[in-house]
Amino acid sequence: MPRDAVTPALPVQVPLVTEPWGVLKSLEVARRNLLELIPELALHQPIVSGRTGVRWHMVMDPEANRHILKDRVEDYPKSEVTKNILKPAIGESLFIAEGAHWHWQRRAAAPVFSLRNIQNLGPIMTAAAERSVARVDAAVGRAANLFDEMVTATFEVISDVTLSGGEAFDRAAVHRAIDNYISQTAKVSLLDILGAPVWVPRPLRLLSSGAMRDMKRTADAAIEGRRTRQVAAGVPDLLDLLLEGEDPKTGRRMSTQELRDNLLTFIVAGHETTALTLAWSLYLLAFDPAQQDRARAEAQRVLRGRTATAADVERLPFVRQVIDEALRLYPPAAMVSRTARAPDTILGREVRPGDTVMLPFYALHRSYLLWEDPHAFRPDRFADREAIDRFAYLPFGDGPRICIGASFAIQEAVIILATLISRFRFARVPGKEPKPVLILTLRPEGGVWLTVERADGEGDAARAA
Ligand code: HEM
Repeated sequence: MPRDAVTPALPVQVPLVTEPWGVLKSLEVARRNLLELIPELALHQPIVSGRTGVRWHMVMDPEANRHILKDRVEDYPKSEVTKNILKPAIGESLFIAEGAHWHWQRRAAAPVFSLRNIQNLGPIMTAAAERSVARVDAAVGRAANLFDEMVTATFEVISDVTLSGGEAFDRAAVHRAIDNYISQTAKVSLLDILGAPVWVPRPLRLLSSGAMRDMKRTADAAIEGRRTRQVAAGVPDLLDLLLEGEDPKTGRRMSTQELRDNLLTFIVAGHETTALTLAWSLYLLAFDPAQQDRARAEAQRVLRGRTATAADVERLPFVRQVIDEALRLYPPAAMVSRTARAPDTILGREVRPGDTVMLPFYALHRSYLLWEDPHAFRPDRFADREAIDRFAYLPFGDGPRICIGASFAIQEAVIILATLISRFRFARVPGKEPKPVLILTLRPEGGVWLTVERADGEGDAARAA
């Protein structure tokens, strides 16, 4: 279908650099937007190396990704940068622990994210989708920032699934704390990725520590309360499951601090990433009205005016493809980094112990070597998933450190997106395009502003089916 006159040819992207930055310029850029550090070359080459204080390599090659994330995972632990950014918030939790300490936590948490458990949590996602519909409905006839709305919806889900026991969990306060933390601490710590000398002041890191303390206090109180109190019958939440969780090998259980660090990990790692997936999906559907109509037709046919449930997810393949494509173009975790522990050779390049190895999924997912028309929004790429090289598409990482919440996030995103798209029509607001900005996660700067109208045809679709 031809695009209308106001629709630009491609969805928003950031112009990548075509000339090498000096160290100071890099530092300045990194504070603003880490995406702007990725050289344009990274879309045309499998590896780009350089030195900005430290030696670094950016890898955009499926085989090399498999090597780093899976085959030689022991030699590529998460980088010091990652740990520096996250440790003050989430301690030695699943996300950053290494070796045996990581292994036992992963084993203890695995049952929490089993398919059956995730399906059991479906009603919480359905209820959040319903409340989101009510809020979006109040914006009918005008423009709304759908990114903010998706942050609210996914935060409701993650706070209800982590702590459903009615603990005094001040959503707004916790959300503010995470937001401060991500936007301040992470931004400053990006200096580290470039090997900035330690004397570069990092005052904002100190500023955010009060918010962090409040968040920890809330979680600790909930855990202690839960240990001493019988929980209401019903579906166990993530805290119940973690409290029960034990290392199948040793029988060891988590201490209060370990429980708290992991709960906060689920909140920090799970909520903004899923909100971003949804916000970028809505942006892309507004960008391409023909694909939006397809997604709506599918959602209306399956849902017939209902709110989506976990059982609907497999019957919404096109909605899922839209989400997959949004995760390709705007991967929320757009770059992960590792520090090489042993001498190695990657794609013919010498890697020395201490080198920073970056995996910029944003560039991998837009590589001309791997994708046809890589910047275009084409959900049909994912019609046949088998045709896609597993290590060319890594929104959730891969290998032993693959995202433990991937199925949870996909189920939640499909439920919320299908429900919203079945009820509403979303359109771009000219001149208000979001700008992709990478500061720990890939955020739409300026928000995702879309006009909202009620969708018609719901009844027709239901009658026709
Ligand atoms: C669309 C949403 C999400 C995206 C794009 C995403 C992305 C990722 C990525 C790329 C990694 C690997 C990081 C690395 O290798 O350095 C990861 C790890 C992780 N994610 Fe997610 N994630 C999402 C949702 C969630 C959810 C909902 C949860 C939990 C409720 C979660 C919890 C975690 C944890 C605990 C890890 C660390 C796992 C380990 O190291 O064993 N994530 N995520």
